[in-house]
Amino acid sequence: MSILSGKKVLLGISGGIAAYKSAILVRSLIKAGASVKVVMTESAKEFVTPLTLSTLSKHPVLSSFVNEEDENDVWNSHVDLGLWADLMVVAPATANTLSKMSNGVCDNLLLATYLSAKCPVFVAPAMDLDMYKHPSTSKSLEKLRSFGNTVIPAGTGELASGLVGEGRMAEPDDIVAFICDHLKRQAPLFGKKVLITAGPTHEPIDPVRFIGNRASGKMGFELAHCAADMGAEVTLISGPTHLEVANTEITLVRVVTARDMYEKVHEYYPHTDIVVMAAAVADFRPSKVADQKIKKKTAKMEIALEPTQDILASLGKAKQGQYLVGFALETENEMENAQGKLERKHLDAIVLNSLNDEGAGFDKPTNKITFIDNRGKSVPFALKSKTEVAADIFNQILLRLNAQEN
Ligand code: CTP
Repeated sequence: MSILSGKKVLLGISGGIAAYKSAILVRSLIKAGASVKVVMTESAKEFVTPLTLSTLSKHPVLSSFVNEEDENDVWNSHVDLGLWADLMVVAPATANTLSKMSNGVCDNLLLATYLSAKCPVFVAPAMDLDMYKHPSTSKSLEKLRSFGNTVIPAGTGELASGLVGEGRMAEPDDIVAFICDHLKRQAPLFGKKVLITAGPTHEPIDPVRFIGNRASGKMGFELAHCAADMGAEVTLISGPTHLEVANTEITLVRVVTARDMYEKVHEYYPHTDIVVMAAAVADFRPSKVADQKIKKKTAKMEIALEPTQDILASLGKAKQGQYLVGFALETENEMENAQGKLERKHLDAIVLNSLNDEGAGFDKPTNKITFIDNRGKSVPFALKSKTEVAADIFNQILLRLNAQEN
């Protein structure tokens, strides 16, 4: 999964020889998880057919203000198209189209859509070297940059004219990589290292039995995906769960016991900016682990337990600027208990979930939380999906980190 996953990309194609590469660009964008619609100029159709592009994008390709194929829907709305898009990429962007874009000329659907679009716009210039070097082209690019548009630099190499120089459209995969990199840099958690723990821990009794709990790991996995979507470099340390990470940018470290989790968390902690301990760590483990399977010899059996280390409290003690967030799962005196944990464990914030709230807690797709910070401010949220809860938690963390920085 990439940062383009789920994004709606409007690809504008203008009429240059590099338009033949736009079919591959559509494929690369879709492969990166985006849905793609194409708007093209009339002259672009000389280089690549709308049929190819609509087959690849699975959407009709638009080029005129009037829809001649459907008499019930005669108007191709540039405003709707512009609003549909999360981002617009004009590739290839010819000297002519760049000049018109920078001067507000609006004589085709691509240009009208550009003027209507409120989303980030990228242009990938493509032309012969002398046209690219011409002060008029430089002026167009400068103006587009001043509008907040982003220019994807042209490459150097052999051009359609046979000349060699700067002006080739960037390769489709490089365009996608450039856009992903650009979006990541603008993401709110870009440059931050985030450590999340998830799931239960299993504390062995003998080689086949363990003490565990019902935690599914879902909340922690959602937090990891949310942080990665917000641009963070994420390490997810998870106890036993069947969940998988969809995002290849998340480093997943699987552990079994509280002791394993303690060790792994402390290994990453010194290089981490934000920690969210969502794991349901066992508070006790069997004092002795039998080497062999325990046989049923007696009618009664007792297992002696000893406390595990409180990982979160140990992080609170070793804190060196990390923003530390714990979870509190309570059944009574929720606020008091959560606040007590926040203070005792030297946390920056704690996420309270009460088992008294229907739909909240272990092994459920939903959760109902209150976010409490170390200044005593508490923000309650409604019952939501764990995906939405994860976003609420990171938005709360970001608000506080941004306030600290300003
Ligand atoms: N936690 C931890 N290590 C433990 C137990 C808990 O790091 N051995 C962390 C959890 O990941 C969670 C927070 O501490 O972020 C609170 O966990 P919770 O079970 O609610 O509280 P406890 O501190 O264990 O206290 P109690 O069980 O008495 O409520």
